[in-house]
This record gives sequence, structure tokens and C-alpha cells, in this order.
Amino acid sequence: MRRFLFFVGVAVLSINALAEQSVQKNYTDYCASCHGADRLGGAGPALLPENLERLRRPEAVKTISEGRIASQMAGFADKLGKDEILALVDFIYRPLPVAPVWGTDEIITSHIRHVPAGSLPDKPLFSADPLNLFVVVEVGDHHATILDGDKFEPIYRFPTRFALHGGPKFSPDGRYVFFASRDGWISKFDIYNLKTVAEVRAGINTRNIAVSGDGKTVLAGNYLPHSLVLLNADDLSLIRVIPTVGLDGKSSRVSAVYQAEPRGSFVAALKDVKEVWEIPYGATDFPVRRIAVDDYLDDFFFDPSYRHLIGAARDGRKGQAIDLDSGRKVAQIDLPGMPHLGSGITWEYQGHPVMATPNLKEPVVSVIDMTTWQTVKQIKTIGPGFFMRSHENTPYAWTDGFSSGDPASRDAMTVIDKGTLEVARVLRPIPGKTAAHVEFTRDGKYALVSVWEKDGALVIYDAATLREIKRLPMNKPSGKYNVFNKITRSAGTSH
Ligand code: HEC
Repeated sequence: MRRFLFFVGVAVLSINALAEQSVQKNYTDYCASCHGADRLGGAGPALLPENLERLRRPEAVKTISEGRIASQMAGFADKLGKDEILALVDFIYRPLPVAPVWGTDEIITSHIRHVPAGSLPDKPLFSADPLNLFVVVEVGDHHATILDGDKFEPIYRFPTRFALHGGPKFSPDGRYVFFASRDGWISKFDIYNLKTVAEVRAGINTRNIAVSGDGKTVLAGNYLPHSLVLLNADDLSLIRVIPTVGLDGKSSRVSAVYQAEPRGSFVAALKDVKEVWEIPYGATDFPVRRIAVDDYLDDFFFDPSYRHLIGAARDGRKGQAIDLDSGRKVAQIDLPGMPHLGSGITWEYQGHPVMATPNLKEPVVSVIDMTTWQTVKQIKTIGPGFFMRSHENTPYAWTDGFSSGDPASRDAMTVIDKGTLEVARVLRPIPGKTAAHVEFTRDGKYALVSVWEKDGALVIYDAATLREIKRLPMNKPSGKYNVFNKITRSAGTSH
């Protein structure tokens, strides 16, 4: 009898061991390239139970089977069986044997001062207008290019950290640009001297950064660990780590951080707790003001005065407008198509300020009146978009079809007339190749579109005639950021 039980025991053990091996193998073969060998994240987010609280298991099964719209997360139903997917779901909800730690000590130890702060010359090494430069992020081979925005000629190309994310941010004078990589590295680059001057690893899996309006502080928001990290902007040395724990004691990822210069504050939304935090950056102790909100905010932006925050949950059909002064919700906004508010822009339409956002699920741009919070129009576009841009000096707003699953609409840019809210033109920079992300020159006269391929390009258009004037080869140019438009917070660009 004993011997029999022993054999059963061994058999069960080995079945478990086999199952364990095969889920490990599937994870390594199909998931690790993006989510990290140890599940700590990479191009995709960290997959750990503390980061998956909002994702119910059936949703996880669906995500792995069908993929996620408008992201690199493809479906695996054609490669993995149902049981294999269920086993992967069990696997990603399992805690790691050793909890990953990235706190004060690790951040301080990671800090690199390449060049002593303030030791380099205060004059650019080049003659191009330093305010009309573009920083082009090329994710294809993890490089960035500094581009002369008058001549459209590259000035300098340099390697970045792996997988930059969330758009670089400039110092208020436009001299420095700060990058964040998905694996938590924050880099400070001196554009005048074309040199990376300092770096620090602020987290394991980072969402994005903001630079304070006074240029003194950088704030990083993390997915892992659940924290905000305040850094000195001059050399990226650590000021403080703020664990992101809600009023109810629940720990949370950070959805995104932005600076609100007119308010003198940073604003951060939490992802797993229904709270928005405002942190005045002028105060030495960086006190946190918590604002409770009705729903999760995965994405948000501000009205031009920075009095209101407009945010939405990814799975919700309604957005919220929150008055940051009173901390109250002032309106619910109809946003049924999964808006990408991080790319929202504003302009005046018939005497009213309006905001416009592309939607990840629907081929429409939602135009909302920011005094009544009513929808003015849903403008039909070629495909669901991701980025949207305009400029004070152009009559047009441009959006892409980047979120479309259909290659036949991913190559199209829809150009919208801001005065009539009608589609003025559809452009296909390189037919059959994905087009995305527009940015304007400082004067608004030219629009630069990314062809998002390894053998991609920047295609430059005359923004008035909509004629192509130049093409520059680039390696998956994920975005390009004009110094002047960013530091003046142009209404046509996200900030
Ligand atoms: C090519 C890169 C890539 C690969 C390969 C990949 N993923 Fe993802 N995955 C992503 C990205 C990017 C996201 C975030 C999508 C978004 O924007 O919501 C994601 C999201 C997810 C989510 C949702 C997380 C959340 O918090 O909502 C789960 C679960 C997931 N992936 C599991 C897997 C599993 C399991 C595999 C392997 C079978 C896998 N992924 C393979 C890139 C990838």
C-alpha cells in the first residue's frame, strides 16, 4: 500500500513538474521578449499579481487569447491551446519567489553622473535655431536624432536606453531633454553640447516622467514598484521616493504624471486606486494633495488653463472633468470609443474652447466643448487613431489610423479642418506602411509625419498646401518633439 501511494505521489509530482515546465517554456517562448524573463516588464508591462489586481482572470484569458487593441500585445489563440493559456494566467498571477525591490538604496546606487552638472558651455555646438529643433525618438534601434527644424537635416544621432516610453520632456529653456525607458532609466541629455550628462534608474517598470515648470525637479511615475520618484533636475540625484498607496491602504501603479505649470504642481493619476494626486513642486517637502475620483484614470489631460483635468478609464465609456481647485467632478463626458487623452489637443471653435481626442476603438475624433462638456461632433476618420496634433498657426488638425487593426487604414493620415470640423484631406505618406504621430515646426508651417517601420521615414509636408516637401530615412521614428512647441505648451500638442 505504501509503495502504491509512493508511486501515485511520484506520478502526480511529475505531472505537476511537467505542467510547470511547459508553462515556463510557453512563457519564455511567447511572452518573455516583451514582459521580461522574470515578469518584471520590458516593452510590455510587468506581469505580477500586485500589478494585475484590476485585471480579472477572464479578462486576462481574453487579453492573451485575443490581444489588446492599439498595442503590441497580439493574441495567442492561434499558437496556444485553451489549457495552455489558462496555465499562463495562473502563472502570471503567482507571486515571484523573491519580491523585486527598487527603493532608495537601489536608486542611489544606480545614479551615474557622466558630466558634472553645469560644467559644459552654455552655447550650442551648432548654428541651427535651438528652439526649432526636433528630438526624434527612433525605437527601431533605440536611438534619438536631433533634427534641425529649419533645414530638416539631422544634427546628431545617439543611442538611448532600451525602449523609451512616454515622450521625452524638456527643461523650460529647451536646453535639456529628459528621457524615460520602460525599464526605469531616466536620462538627461544636454542638447547644446550633444551629451548625456546624467542617468538614474528610478524604477523597474516606469510609465513616464514630468519636468517641473521651474525646471528644478523631475518626477517619474512607476508601474513597478508602486511609486513616484522625485529627482533633482540638475544631476538626477534622488530627492525622495513616494510610495503610491491609496487612502484605503491599497498600493497602486501610476497611470501617468504631468506637470501643471500654471498651478505650480505635478499631477499624477493612480491606476489601481481612484485617486488623483497633486504635488506642488515649489514646496520643499512635496506634500501630496489627494483628490478622490469616481472612476480609475488610465489617461488624462488638462484644459488650457490647467484648472480642469479630463480623464478616463480605459474600459469606461464616460470621461470625467475634474475641477482641480475644488477637487470635484464637474461633468461626465461622453467618450465611448476609448479615447487616447494623452494625445488630446485644444483649439477655439466658434468662440468656444474645444478639446479633441482620437479613439483607440472607433474611427472617430471626439470634439468636446470645454465650457458645456457636450460633444460637438464625432468626426469620422479613416481608422481608429492614436496621436493627434495641430498648431496655433495652421487651420488643420491631423490624426493617424495607428490603432486600426486593418493595414489598409494604418497608412492614412486624416487632416481635419478645425473651422468646419470636416475632413479636409486624407494623406497616405507611403501607401501600405504605417503612418503615425505628427508634429509641427515652431512656426506651424510644416508637419512631420512618422512612417513607423524599421525602414521608415519622416515625411515632411507643407502644412498649408499639404504637399510633401522632403523625406528623411528613420528607424521606426515613434515620435518627434519640437522644442518650442513643447516648452510653450502649444495648444496643438500634448504636454
Ligand atoms: C510583442 C510584445 C508582447 C508580447 C510578445 C506579449 N505581450 Fe502581453 N502585452 C504587451 C503590451 C505592450 C501590453 C500592454 C497593452 C496595453 O496597452 O494595454 C501587454 C499586456 C498584457 C496583459 C495585460 C496586462 C494588464 O495589466 O492589463 C497581459 C495579461 C499580457 N500582456 C500577457 C501576455 C502573455 C501571457 C504573453 C505571452 C503568451 C504576452 N503577453 C506576450 C506586449 C506583449
